[in-house]
Order: sequence, then C-alpha cells, then structure tokens
Amino acid sequence: ELLPVIEGVRICPEYIADGALVVDDATGCIVDYGSRQAMLADYADTAAQEGREPVKIHDHRDKLIMPGFIDTHVHYPQIDMIAAYGEQLLDWLNNYTFVTEANFGDPKVAHDTAQFFLNQLLANGTTSAMVFSTSHPLSAEAFFTESHRLNTRMITGNVLMDQNAPAPLCVPAEQSIRDTQDIIDNWHERGRQHVAITPRFAITSTPKQLRMAGDLYASYDSVYLQTHLAENRDEVVFVQTLYPNHKGYLDVYDDMGLLGRRTMLAHGIYLETSEYERLRDTGTQIAHCPTSNLFLGSGLFDLPKTLSYTGVSIATDVGAGTSLSMLTTLSEAYKVQQLQSNPLSAHQGLYQITLGNAQSLLLDKKIGNFMPSKEADFVVINPGATALLERRMAQTNTLEEQLFVLMMLGDDRVIEQTVVAGVSRYQKSNAL
Ligand code: GUN
Ligand code: FE
Repeated sequence: ELLPVIEGVRICPEYIADGALVVDDATGCIVDYGSRQAMLADYADTAAQEGREPVKIHDHRDKLIMPGFIDTHVHYPQIDMIAAYGEQLLDWLNNYTFVTEANFGDPKVAHDTAQFFLNQLLANGTTSAMVFSTSHPLSAEAFFTESHRLNTRMITGNVLMDQNAPAPLCVPAEQSIRDTQDIIDNWHERGRQHVAITPRFAITSTPKQLRMAGDLYASYDSVYLQTHLAENRDEVVFVQTLYPNHKGYLDVYDDMGLLGRRTMLAHGIYLETSEYERLRDTGTQIAHCPTSNLFLGSGLFDLPKTLSYTGVSIATDVGAGTSLSMLTTLSEAYKVQQLQSNPLSAHQGLYQITLGNAQSLLLDKKIGNFMPSKEADFVVINPGATALLERRMAQTNTLEEQLFVLMMLGDDRVIEQTVVAGVSRYQKSNAL
C-alpha cells in the first residue's frame, strides 16, 4: 500500500499480522520475513526434513516487531547533564554543557558514560546513532570501544573546538585534526563503526580549524561530517559578528568545504531561501531535534519546507533533548508540526525513525527495514505495556490508530527487547 505523506515524499509501510522474521545467527543478518506459516514452512519445516540444525523459534505474539530505531544527532557525554534548568543555547552551553564535557578527559568517566549511554539507547530501542563525543580524543575512542563490543552501528568523532570555550576543552587546529585522523585510522569502518569529522559549530572553531576539517572531509569518500546550524537567534547573530563578510551562517560552512551528502547539520531553524537552496544543491542533510528545540526554547522547525529542499532526519539531541526515546521524540515532533498546522502521521513518523533516518545517513543498504541480507537490528514492542496503553489500545479499530497512539504515548516502557545484529542486547526485566 502506497501512502502519500507529504507532497513529493512517498513511503511504503508494510504490516504483517502474525508474521515472522528469519535471522541467520551466524551472520547476524536477515534471511527473510513474511507470514509466520510461510516462514515455518520455508525454514523450520525444511530444516527438520533435511536433518539440518533445528530453527530456534522465539514467540512474540501480541507484540510488534520493528526495525531498530536510528537517532541521527545525540551527545553521549550530555547524558550526565540532561534536563538542566533555565537557560537557552549559549548560556546552557557555558553554564552546564562545557562544565560536564570537561570531565571526559578521564578515561574512566568516558568508558562508564559510554557504556551507560549505549545501554540506555538499547533500552529505548535505538540500535544506531550519529553521536557527539567531546574534544578529548579518548572520549570518542571510549565510545567506539563500547559500541564495538555491543556490535551497534554507530558514528562519532572527537569534537573540534579551538575558541570561545573553556581552555581545557579547546584543542589547537593542527592537533585536533591529527586526533581525528588517528581516530579515522583506528575506527572508520572497523566492524560497524564509522567516523564523523565533528566541528561543534561555527562559534567554537577558528576559520583555520573549520578549513582543516573541510580539507580532511574532502580527502575521504565515506567519512561523515556533523555540526550544528542556525538553532537559536543569538547564535545566528554571534556567527554574523564572527563572519561579517560571509553571506550567512551556512555560507561559513560552505566556504570551509563542510557541506555535502555525508554531512548532517543539526537544527536549521533560522535559514534564508538561498541557504535552503545550498542545502539542496550540496545534498546536505538536516537533523530535526524537537525535544531539544522545545526545551531550549530555540524555535519551531519548518518540516515541510525543509523537506521540499533536502533530506530531514529526526533526532533526540540529548542533553538539550529531554528523552532518548525516538517514540517520545516523534510525539514532540508531532506537536511542533501541529503548532504550524502540519500533522505528522504515524506511518511517516515510524518510517522516519527507521528507514528514513537510515537513508539520511546513507546506511539504508545495511539497516532500516527487514529486507533480506540487511543486518538484523530490531525491537520487540509491547503496545499494551502500561495499564493506560492497554486500555487505550483496546479502543482502537485500525492499525493506523494503534500506531499513532504508540507514537504519542510510547517510550522506553514499550520496548520489550532490543536485538543488535541478531544478538539480544536488551531484555525488559519481568519485574517491571
Ligand atoms: N550547538 C553547539 N553545541 C551544541 C550542543 O551541545 N547542543 C545543542 N543543542 N546545540 C549546540
Ligand atoms: Fe546537538
């Protein structure tokens, strides 16, 4: 069934009542999916007839199985200062964020936090993410070490900052780029890990550091680049004072060679038409972070307009974002669009946090849905996990209604199990 979503964007949701997913334990990849009866006949019964090893069957009746969720913009060190009171972006960075990030020069802090954060992602059904570390190279190394152990598909890099931040977080341009180079050599495309060159944003990098980041980006064809763009009005003004001779915020990144199809820019709330056109012409992707935009009072993201120019993904942006749950994030994205009279359907939302975000990250050949040979990252969801959800679900008549209620009210409580490349990495405790 093809559903028109927003003009120009079509998705093809597929639902199989009483379905089954067939996974190869040896490769961690998807073999097939379809009706349970057909899968039993094609795989379990034939294995028995041919005397092969029996197929293990996991019964998840009354649950939904969905592809693992993908978060395209989140800061792992900021899990330690999520929900800090009272400030907007620039004061929030100075008063809370940089203070916390300064702790990540300690390898124990970095490893403990990376481990905690990754387990929180899994408890929320998220199996892949594009992540900010801190400017300490060991923070990115610690994150990759923990992610590699769990075999989650993750993207990160050391954060580039060399001005307008506390001295302990600033690393001179040459050193910071050497650090990124080392991390690329150690981690890029090792197992399921990828590196992103990560200048924090125009304010905290000198032109020299941004240009070196652009030169490094140009020298690879698979390394990503991530930064922030036009999130807050005071930020935009600050960038204008730092770069009076540039046409605007995006033009700074454009001039330094930071734009392209492997670039993910968080936010993009305050943009001119010419900037949307440059995003389109360069293929640069935008990550919309609704809980963050609301929490920091940053502004209302124009989803239909941005989508009419370029790819948009949806992300949590924790610790400015207030939840690691992609379901909660969708619920807030829905409200942000409602304030602008653009309703977001459940099909569009759930597509976005799976295959849509995978496409935005150029990972849709590997993850995002259940196409045979893709990696078996999936979540088992209990749509009736709470008394309220159970009662409300009983009042629904269609799948669309059920999925919408799940999108509005669901969070980590509905995640029963999370499987990463065929291996169960999170199982909700029965005590809950
Ligand atoms: N802009 C620059 N750094 C940050 C950050 O850590 N969080 C958010 N939300 N915006 C930023
Ligand atoms: Fe961010």
